[in-house]
Amino acid sequence: GAPVEVDISKLESGQLIRVEWRGKPVWIVNRTPKMLEQMKQHEGNLRDPNSEEPQQLASAQNGYRSKRPEIFVAVGICTHLGCSPTFLNGSFGELVEGTDSGFFCPCHGSRFDMAGRVFQNVPAPLNLEIPPYTFIDDTTILVG
Ligand code: FES
Repeated sequence: GAPVEVDISKLESGQLIRVEWRGKPVWIVNRTPKMLEQMKQHEGNLRDPNSEEPQQLASAQNGYRSKRPEIFVAVGICTHLGCSPTFLNGSFGELVEGTDSGFFCPCHGSRFDMAGRVFQNVPAPLNLEIPPYTFIDDTTILVG
């Protein structure tokens, strides 16, 4: 599949947009400072906090799992059996205690933080997949 160009100039803080790449949903989220803060609060409860699993791209192997701290790009498919997790942006109650942002999979209850890192004791085995992408300029991302 061809790479997909995405204009993020209108992506507001806290907002998620979805594009399609190779038939898969890809999310682009502009994470708020609060979301970035909440990502640090539960690192001890994550299965693979540093994305060391071999199938992870090198660009996913930092604390943000992204090239820019606030901009998060991920494949929006649960790594358990492929459902589409729900984005919790602070208006749906808690994901885990003290954290109201992240992703919740309604199929079997897997939880992921705002970097797509899977929590322990849920069915999903891996962090959400990060697709290859580059910034063409400050407000344009090329996915693929
Ligand atoms: Fe997401 Fe099973 S498909 S928890």
